[in-house]
Amino acid sequence: MYEKILETAAWLKERMPNKPETAIVLGTGLGQLADKIEKILAIPYREIPNFPVSTVEGHHGQLVFGRLGGRDIMAMEGRFHYYEGYTMKEVTFPIRVMYELGIKTLFVSNAAGGTNPSFRIGDIMIITDHINFMPENPLHGPNIPTGPRFPDMGEPYNNELIEMADAIAAEKGIKVRHGVYLATQGPTFETPSEYRMFARWGADAVGMSTVPEVIVARHCGIRCFGVSVITDLGTYGKLMKVTHEDVQKAANEAQPRMTAIMEEMIRRL
Ligand code: HPA
Repeated sequence: MYEKILETAAWLKERMPNKPETAIVLGTGLGQLADKIEKILAIPYREIPNFPVSTVEGHHGQLVFGRLGGRDIMAMEGRFHYYEGYTMKEVTFPIRVMYELGIKTLFVSNAAGGTNPSFRIGDIMIITDHINFMPENPLHGPNIPTGPRFPDMGEPYNNELIEMADAIAAEKGIKVRHGVYLATQGPTFETPSEYRMFARWGADAVGMSTVPEVIVARHCGIRCFGVSVITDLGTYGKLMKVTHEDVQKAANEAQPRMTAIMEEMIRRL
């Protein structure tokens, strides 16, 4: 496993046109930030040795190197989801490669269902913490020596970055929420009782990604910043039917606000 990570990192190092210390991984319908990158090089996942290949509609599946907010940046356009059939090692493989390439800060986004009854569709939620309700921890198995066997998870999302996001949102007059993101394995959306249970557990939003990547990033000492765009609501008693198309549409409408915050954060890093 570790050898494959190093092999892929070495392959990319030979081709990388810049030296990014910041990476972004964007969720369903949230690719606009990647579109703002002045692209220098884009490599389809299928051309990268050992990389899994993305399968879901709305995900391009390429690794992009370029400039954003005056900085070198790399971005994953399309991520790997557990529900697609990938193992947790595959889902988080690109994060391990990013670490080997010198990434220090990771920006992640996702579309999520709101379980907090005060949330509205289109809300931007800055992720302050998460609950790993996926069936496996990505660190399961022999410890890869980027971090300890039992890594601390006291601050999975970096507090300084959260403060910076709040300040930028206030300056730009963008309303943001704070909340806890819970990750399920999917691909089913939640039953009414599952939404209620997750809300009682302390989740404000629920989705099918992000947590494995953040766990591995933290194991590598990469600081993380995450945003959920609330694309549907799972408030018990007021449930609406939810489809992938609804999720994409709501994400698309909200993404200019998310993009504005993240782009300015990258500028100020
Ligand atoms: N549940 C799980 N994943 C999701 C949801 C949801 O309601 N909305 C977008 N992704």
